Amino acid sequence: MSKKLRIGLIGAGNIAQSAHIPAYLAQDDVELVAVCDLKHERAVEVAEKYGMKHVCKDMDELVALADVDAVSVCTWNNAHVTAVLAAAKAGKHILCEKPMSMTVAEAETMKKAVEEAGVTFMMGFVNRFRADSQVIYDLAQEGRFGDIYYAKAGWLRRRGTPLGWFTDLSKSGGGPVIDIGVHVIDLTWHFMGKPKPVAVSAAVHHEIGDYKTKGVSRWEALDTDNLVFETEDSAAGFVRFENGATMAFEVSWAINGEDTGVYSKIFGTKAGASLDPLTIYGEEGGYLADAKPNPGRANSFAAEIRHFLDCIKEGKQPLSSVDDGVQIQKILNGIYQSAKEGREIQI
Ligand SMILES: NC(=O)c1ccc[n+]([C@@H]2O[C@H](COP(=O)([O-])OP(=O)(O)OC[C@H]3O[C@@H](n4cnc5c(N)ncnc54)[C@H](O)[C@@H]3O)[C@@H](O)[C@H]2O)c1
Repeated sequence: MSKKLRIGLIGAGNIAQSAHIPAYLAQDDVELVAVCDLKHERAVEVAEKYGMKHVCKDMDELVALADVDAVSVCTWNNAHVTAVLAAAKAGKHILCEKPMSMTVAEAETMKKAVEEAGVTFMMGFVNRFRADSQVIYDLAQEGRFGDIYYAKAGWLRRRGTPLGWFTDLSKSGGGPVIDIGVHVIDLTWHFMGKPKPVAVSAAVHHEIGDYKTKGVSRWEALDTDNLVFETEDSAAGFVRFENGATMAFEVSWAINGEDTGVYSKIFGTKAGASLDPLTIYGEEGGYLADAKPNPGRANSFAAEIRHFLDCIKEGKQPLSSVDDGVQIQKILNGIYQSAKEGREIQI
């Protein structure tokens, strides 16, 4: 392996350009060497802008390049599986954007492929790399909260449905559950010490769909023509874990209530915690006491990508592993299945 890790980008849309590329460019041991995109002209433009050597016609051509060590998978959700299988087969290390896939079967195939190939695979669960998240995680690891037996995770957007493929089921696999629920459910589960999920009860709602509300901002995929609205716009539910712990969650892209931002609350036998504003709920000298640690600042995408590169270089298992991707996929698809069947389901 050359001194600099040579990176290829599979998918050159919004997240690749606004988050992955700047985060790689902030590292001094990386070279961006190759890019491909279904829209070839987009790949050409990105390659020219960042001086990348190779513009490939597709992901197969990209992963076949001898001078690519690792790839970022930044395509629509429906292509994560093909990209990961191709990269693993070619022996490339992989950072995969969230969600891991659209189904549990896909996620399990991806796990098998990366394990057989022996490559580093990391899920892009970027919220784990927020500075405030890292404080809660460190304290949980030290046992500050005791046993965490209950948690609440959520992200309600009043009018924040993304524009583009996100609302097209064939490309996304789902709405806010799979798009932003993945972030808050994963983050909270990570704080809880990753207990094994065993059952899910949930409901999803398709009530608002498309809207023309003025004065609101929305995440835009780079192509926003051909819009369809097939996905849910909100969901709520309850997850049970093998150790008896439980998690309640709620998510929306559109709902008639206040925006909550990302929230995650954990409740333990010794103390609890809430993200943003970061607060630890404990006792001090026999009195109730709220602590507000100062987490400092971190660019979460830069921290995520730094961790990916370090794991490759040191042969370490990433904090957000392939197993974590599979477990979270089981919860996400369990939510849809439970909603469809109108009952709690085992996962
Ligand atoms: N971590 C985060 O906070 C975050 C935020 C936004 C999006 N995302 C994830 O990033 C991914 C991309 O989202 P986006 O907002 O950048 O969308 P986007 O539409 O702007 O970009 C996706 C790009 O992938 C290309 N593409 C699709 N299928 C392809 C294939 N088979 N081969 C090559 N290129 C292909 C598209 O042409 C497009 O240019 C999604 O999985 C999304 O969930 C993550």
